[in-house]
Amino acid sequence: MKRFLSLVQPSGSLTIGNYIGSIRQFVKLQESYDTFIGVADMHSITVPQNPEFLHRRNREVLAWFVAAGLSDKHCTFFIQSDVRLHAELAWIFECITNMGELSRMTQFKVKTEGKTDKKIPCGLFTYPVLMAADILIYDADIVPVGSDQKQHVELARNIAECFNSRFGDTFVVPEPVIPNVGGRVRDLQDPSKKMSKSATSPKGVIFLDDDEAAIRKKISSAATDMDACVDYDEASKPGVSNLISIYASLNEIGLPEAIAKFKGETRYSVFKKAIADCVVEHLMPIQERYRKVLADGMVDEYLDKGAKRAREVAGRKLDEVFAKVGFGRA
Ligand code: AMP
Ligand code: TRP
Repeated sequence: MKRFLSLVQPSGSLTIGNYIGSIRQFVKLQESYDTFIGVADMHSITVPQNPEFLHRRNREVLAWFVAAGLSDKHCTFFIQSDVRLHAELAWIFECITNMGELSRMTQFKVKTEGKTDKKIPCGLFTYPVLMAADILIYDADIVPVGSDQKQHVELARNIAECFNSRFGDTFVVPEPVIPNVGGRVRDLQDPSKKMSKSATSPKGVIFLDDDEAAIRKKISSAATDMDACVDYDEASKPGVSNLISIYASLNEIGLPEAIAKFKGETRYSVFKKAIADCVVEHLMPIQERYRKVLADGMVDEYLDKGAKRAREVAGRKLDEVFAKVGFGRA
């Protein structure tokens, strides 16, 4: 059985962007793959985190996964820091990755824009190498992610190819899988940006734990344009197009169908109400399951079981790598 793997950072409340861009793809794929799903707490400290908050958030992210429909029958759930071997492999990868490759990463450029070197932690620079280790240590065949992570998965491919050519066939070269629609959900207030857990203002971000009133308010005040005519055009109507994409993704219909439904509507308030109804209808049942999952206490059991299997799989791979690199004694 082929393997799929993906991780999500516990750096804040999950957003509808995380849900549409990644978690929903996981739910669809889980039955056809040997699935590894992780909470990337080691990645999240590239920006300062409150330790208490991080402990709590790790468990909560897992509860959202389960509430969204992931099952321990198909998935090996783990917290990244429970499998410390990732960091050991990342060190080896850092030694075969050059500064130029990492300097080209768009996310690094965006996150460090306008900052002086003194304010940029090295971890932010080397973060994609740890991500490559997350992926390659499990021989993942596919990595479903939102489009912002595509470049990082490509780096993991390069690292795998580089290692394989230097030390002999060792790693599977993974494929990124990006959803056709919803690979980049945009901020409702500033559609030039992706919707992000760490946005400076929560107004343009729908969090999975927002209540109905908050969801409706955020959508009704989403930035649109002065045309007063619903249509899809990412360049000239990014706000409206974003709302149509959210609608298409959640209803699992193609973009043309979603566009046809609203095309020509002149009242943005009516259009926005339909989008808000759709989001509320999808999120409310997930929120209800989320509360149950947290209350039933199964999360720790899933994580303990998952960490055990993840350590076994990762441990075998790392032993092979250490031997090939020449570490220790023959
Ligand atoms: P992060 O929140 O950065 O840990 O992202 C976890 C997963 O969600 C990754 O696969 C991201 O690519 C995806 N993701 C995050 N934000 C968005 C967004 N606004 N639209 C689509 N996918 C997203
Ligand atoms: N870097 C990813 C993000 O910010 C999270 C992540 C860490 C990841 N390791 C991964 C995603 C491995 C896919 C595979 O969204």
